[in-house]
Amino acid sequence: MRILIGITAGIAAYKIPLLIRMFINAGVEVRCIMTSDAKDFVSPLVISTLSKNPVGIAFWNKETGEWNNHVEYGEWADVLLIAPCTANTLSKMVSGACDNLLLAVYLSMRNKTIVSPAMDLEMYQHPTVKRNISVLIADGVHVIPPDHGELASGLSGEGRLPEPAFIFEEVVKYLSLGQDFLNTQVLVTAGPTYEAIDPVRFIGNHASGKMGFALAENFAARGASVTLITGPTVLRTEHKRVQTIHVTSAAEMFEAVQRHWLDMDLGVFSAAVADYRPIHPAEEKIKKTNEALSIELIKNPDILAWAGKHKTATQRTIGFALETNNAVENAMEKLSRKHADAIVLNVIEENEKCFNSDTNKVRIFDVNGLSLELPTASKAKIAQGIVDYITRIRL
Ligand code: C5P
Repeated sequence: MRILIGITAGIAAYKIPLLIRMFINAGVEVRCIMTSDAKDFVSPLVISTLSKNPVGIAFWNKETGEWNNHVEYGEWADVLLIAPCTANTLSKMVSGACDNLLLAVYLSMRNKTIVSPAMDLEMYQHPTVKRNISVLIADGVHVIPPDHGELASGLSGEGRLPEPAFIFEEVVKYLSLGQDFLNTQVLVTAGPTYEAIDPVRFIGNHASGKMGFALAENFAARGASVTLITGPTVLRTEHKRVQTIHVTSAAEMFEAVQRHWLDMDLGVFSAAVADYRPIHPAEEKIKKTNEALSIELIKNPDILAWAGKHKTATQRTIGFALETNNAVENAMEKLSRKHADAIVLNVIEENEKCFNSDTNKVRIFDVNGLSLELPTASKAKIAQGIVDYITRIRL
C-alpha cells in the first residue's frame, strides 16, 4: 500500500507526524508533499525522517536540481490524503487551479483522493467552503468531516482536524474497500504479436500494449495477482503483484496462456494477436531476387476463443474488439462465438487513432445484455472503468 499525504498550511499540521508514524508501523509506504506555507507549521525534516522519503514541496528542487514529477506521484499513490486541508486548497481543487506541486498531483491522481478539512469555526461554516466541499464530493473526493472541539483560535466548535487514529482508520477502511480483487488470479494479454517471415522480418501491428498494462496495474492495485502475458513492447511494470511474461509470437502467447489458464479466475484478452502467420518462415534472410514475392499464411489459434471454450463454471473471459464497420454487430458476434462474458469495443471516431494513443473510448457489452459506454479518457481511467464494470456486475 502506498499513501501520499499532502500537508497544507493549517495549525493542525502538527498532528501529521503522528499519522505518518501510524502508516509506517502498519507497513504502508508513505510519501509526503507540503505546500510551501505548510513549512511554517511543521518541519519538512520531521516529515521526511518519519516518512522515510524526501518531501516534495516545489516542482523543482533547487538543491538537488531534480524535478518533482507530479504525474509520477499521481501514478505511484494508491490514495492521496490531504490533511489538514485548508479552505484555500479546497477552493483551488474545486477550480482546477494548479499553482503548486500538491494541486498538480491532485489533478494527476489515478486513484482516490481523501481530504480532511480543518479550519476555524466561522471559516468552516462559510457558504463558500460548504459549497466547495459539496463540489469535491460530487467530483468523487472522499471528505472526512472535521471534529467538534477546541480550536487553535481559542474558540470551540466544528473545524478541528480529527485525531490521527481516526484519520488512519478512515483511510485504511477506504484502502481495504479498494481491495476488491484480493485473492483473485487475473490473466491479462497485451501488446501485439510478431510473426516471423524470416530471421529478421515479421508481420505485426501497431498495438502498444498500453491498455493491457493499464488493466494489469489496476487489477494489481486492487489486490489481484496478475499474470501479464505481453507481446513485444517497450512498456514495463514495477508492480509487485504483476508477473510479466514476455512473448513474441501468437503461438508463444497461446502456449503461455495454456500453461497458466487453469489457475486463473479471470482472463482479460487485450492483446492484438496477429490473425495469420507465415506458414513456413524462411530459415535464412529472404533475398530480393524476384520481382514479386508471395508469403503463404496460416491462421493463428484464437487464444480468447480457446480460453472461453475451456473455462470452468467460475472462470470468466473478457475480450476486446476493434472494428471499422458494423462495430456493434461484430462485437456481439464475437461475444458469442468466442464464449466471452464481455467484449470491450474500442470506439473509433473519424480521424482518430487507437493504437499507441494515450487515450481511449470504449463500449462494453456483456452476456447479461448490459452495455456501458466509457467516454474518452486516459487508458488508466478506461482501465479503471473496465475493472469497475467487471466488479459491479460480477459477471
Ligand atoms: O477476432 P478478433 O481478432 O477481432 O478478436 C479480438 C479479441 O480476440 C481480442 O480480445 C484478442 O485479444 C482476442 N484474440 C485472441 N487470439 C487471436 C485473435 C484474437 O486472443 N488469435
